[in-house]
Amino acid sequence: MALVTSTEMFKKAYDGGYAIGAFNVNNMEIVQGITEACREEKAPVILQVSKGARAYANHTYLVKLVEAAVAECPEIPIVLHLDHGPDFETCKSCIDGGFTSVMIDASSKPFAENIEITRKVVEYAHDHGVVVEAELGTLAGIEDDVKVAAHAASYTRPEEVEEFVSKTGCDSLAIAIGTSHGAYKFTAAQCTRNEKGILVPPPLRFDVLEEVSRRLPGFPIVLHGSSSVPQNYVKMINENGGKMPDAVGIPEEQLRHAAELSVCKINIDSDLRLAMTGTIRQFFNEHPDKFDPREYLKPARANIKELVRHKLVDVLGCAGKA
Ligand code: G3H
Ligand code: 13P
Ligand code: ZN
Repeated sequence: MALVTSTEMFKKAYDGGYAIGAFNVNNMEIVQGITEACREEKAPVILQVSKGARAYANHTYLVKLVEAAVAECPEIPIVLHLDHGPDFETCKSCIDGGFTSVMIDASSKPFAENIEITRKVVEYAHDHGVVVEAELGTLAGIEDDVKVAAHAASYTRPEEVEEFVSKTGCDSLAIAIGTSHGAYKFTAAQCTRNEKGILVPPPLRFDVLEEVSRRLPGFPIVLHGSSSVPQNYVKMINENGGKMPDAVGIPEEQLRHAAELSVCKINIDSDLRLAMTGTIRQFFNEHPDKFDPREYLKPARANIKELVRHKLVDVLGCAGKA
């Protein structure tokens, strides 16, 4: 199967009460770990590339890695998506360069300007058979070189979504309901502690999600900042020379619930980074004499694969849906 757009995937996900995993890719091992899990679990998948990933690995290398995954996994549909496209030029470059989906993230701009930029990208993308994700509302956390403090984040205003979608023609909409980018999604002050002393984050605003969905029936909603920050990997990092105190993510049951509603795409990046970094740190601690990258990247790739498998089966509900 060649690369596909997310149109058919989202329709099935919406009707079936599950979500597609959108995993960020930066190198070969990450692409392989994700797609091997998806192939074995027969899950459709979105491989997404940020501006930072393009700067790190180069557009062509990433496209070719994803094309290799398509050739190796012909039985599953794969979307190649631009994550957080900052402007029209970046979106155009990805549309011209083989992507099947782009995000234009003008969510930091005033409403009218967000509409204007998004509509321009949609026009170009649709002329080239590419779909567009847009964003309304502001997530906290770090994405690319932009850091948004918790107090500067703002929930999506449901009363704006119909006008935004009808004026832009976007194909899916990322909304802010309390998720956040990175491994430190909430400050300790925003959380409570359970009886084991573990930080419990504030619940997602399902009321906002439900009101958005009521106003946009059948329309695919996207959640960014949806890593769960698995505590086994935070512990592995901290026990092997790392220092990540109070890293906390979104509880997986809440993501599962969102997937049953109108959320069709759930973005996960930080969890993969934690799995890779924890595994490599542990490897070096246990084998200080080793220096062959294949020896430490192999278990890192294997752990990414198992983490993705868990997300597909237990969180997203998209296993067996390819
Ligand atoms: O939302 C941002 C993604 O996690 C990508 O992160 O910009 O560091 O590649 P990055
Ligand atoms: P996390 O930092 O929670 O993995 O979010 C990733 C994301 O939203 C990419 O766009
Ligand atoms: Zn994001």
